[in-house]
Amino acid sequence: MSFPKNFLWGGATSSCQLEGGWNEGGRGMATTDMVAFEEPDKRGLKGIELSWEQLQYRKTHEDEFYFPKRYGIDFYHHYKDDIKLFAEMGFKVFRMSISWPRIYPTGIEEKPNEEGLQFYDDVFDELHKYGIEPLVTLLHYDIPLYLSEEYNGFESRKTVDCFVKYAKTVLERYQNKVKYWLTFNEINITLGSPYCGCGAFMSRSLKDEKNFKYQLSHNQFVASALVVQTAHEINPEMKIGCMICRLEKYPNTPDPKDVYQSMFESHLNYFYIDMQVLGEYPYYMKRIFQENKIHIDMEPGDLEVLKKGVVDFISISYYETYVCKYNPTLDLIDAGSLIAPIKNPYLQNTDWGWPIDPLGLRTTLNNLYDRYHKPIFIAENGIGCKDILEENGSIHDPYRVDFYRAHIEQLHEAIKDGVDVFGYAMWGPIDIVSNSTSEMSKRYGFIYVDRDDHGKGTNQRLKKDSFYWYKKVIASNGEDLS
Ligand code: BG6
Repeated sequence: MSFPKNFLWGGATSSCQLEGGWNEGGRGMATTDMVAFEEPDKRGLKGIELSWEQLQYRKTHEDEFYFPKRYGIDFYHHYKDDIKLFAEMGFKVFRMSISWPRIYPTGIEEKPNEEGLQFYDDVFDELHKYGIEPLVTLLHYDIPLYLSEEYNGFESRKTVDCFVKYAKTVLERYQNKVKYWLTFNEINITLGSPYCGCGAFMSRSLKDEKNFKYQLSHNQFVASALVVQTAHEINPEMKIGCMICRLEKYPNTPDPKDVYQSMFESHLNYFYIDMQVLGEYPYYMKRIFQENKIHIDMEPGDLEVLKKGVVDFISISYYETYVCKYNPTLDLIDAGSLIAPIKNPYLQNTDWGWPIDPLGLRTTLNNLYDRYHKPIFIAENGIGCKDILEENGSIHDPYRVDFYRAHIEQLHEAIKDGVDVFGYAMWGPIDIVSNSTSEMSKRYGFIYVDRDDHGKGTNQRLKKDSFYWYKKVIASNGEDLS
């Protein structure tokens, strides 16, 4: 059994890591504009998690910092050339996000910024010129900074309203250019990184940590459900998906206690899909909320909104799997976080310590399909590597090809198992700024960008060996992985 005939091969990006043009075209400031490059000892998910005090300091001491996500790789000015390269690889789909503050600079304006809207019109037209389907994420971390500072981001329903207004604007505008949409990128990042996912600061909340984070999630679920309903009303042809950082959880041993722990931690990950696919709080969360004294503030009608706004498909990012060891005192937030603390002795790690697990992809796709019976789109899968640019401009990256070959083989197996996967967008087809570390030197792309961690370089685009390999994979619809 082969890959489906119209399988969507391609790559995925986000505006805050790719686009640049932060102070052009009427764009407002984004939360991600305040995330600075930091030296290795300060890195990790913490790097994207600003405190209120850090934010205020950075605003008044801008010169002391370099903010890579303001510049990305300057797709804003290079999109025609970049899309041409994607087309040369044979892309069928390009996943990108719209920068919310490019459309509504502070979030609260009554009218959208026409120049921002026109930019995305141009990008979508350019993609269609080559027969590439845009798949668009409405929010991939770049929240208008104003909403973060004034309303504590998604802690407030005011931000939910502004998000729905923004979504309605772009859904209406691009309904004939974009068929596939995602509401929030990795909606479950909120537990570990509320500033990144929601533009919210715990220190500005009256709630304790658990109440704060699960309230943020609730507000995002409601926002997502409202947007799904809006999209279907605007044009029933549009397909809206959720997007989760999927972590398949393995028990550390066959000890039933470890097996139980992996089930418990799996629930915390599935929770984010259950809410958007099944449209209600799942049974297992009731006890968890009760025992952790979590009370969600709801507005009248929220439960109906959740029920009505279920998504059309599931999308995931898949980078790694996770080992679970019985620990009855493990904090709820840690249990649901995206950072795997226990090393899996059967797996190799990337240079950034992420376990490489191709077979886990087949397992997770089967588990998802088994649970939901919904079409699945792989919205991200990839490996960050240190590449060497040779004197003659070539980049030899067999390690990247090995990674993708192994994962695509397992994806193929899952399809042969009968799982309905309709597309695969590897992460970062062109080198972009890393989300967690804000580095350029953590490279994912098939296309090299001559730019370093401090923003120095020519910005020239160069094809890596893997570029030609992926081109062959797409041309053969996944048959030729040699
Ligand atoms: C996902 C995010 O978590 O992982 C992307 O959706 C991110 O934005 C990707 O870039 C890879 O992570 P990183 O930190 O290596 O860029």
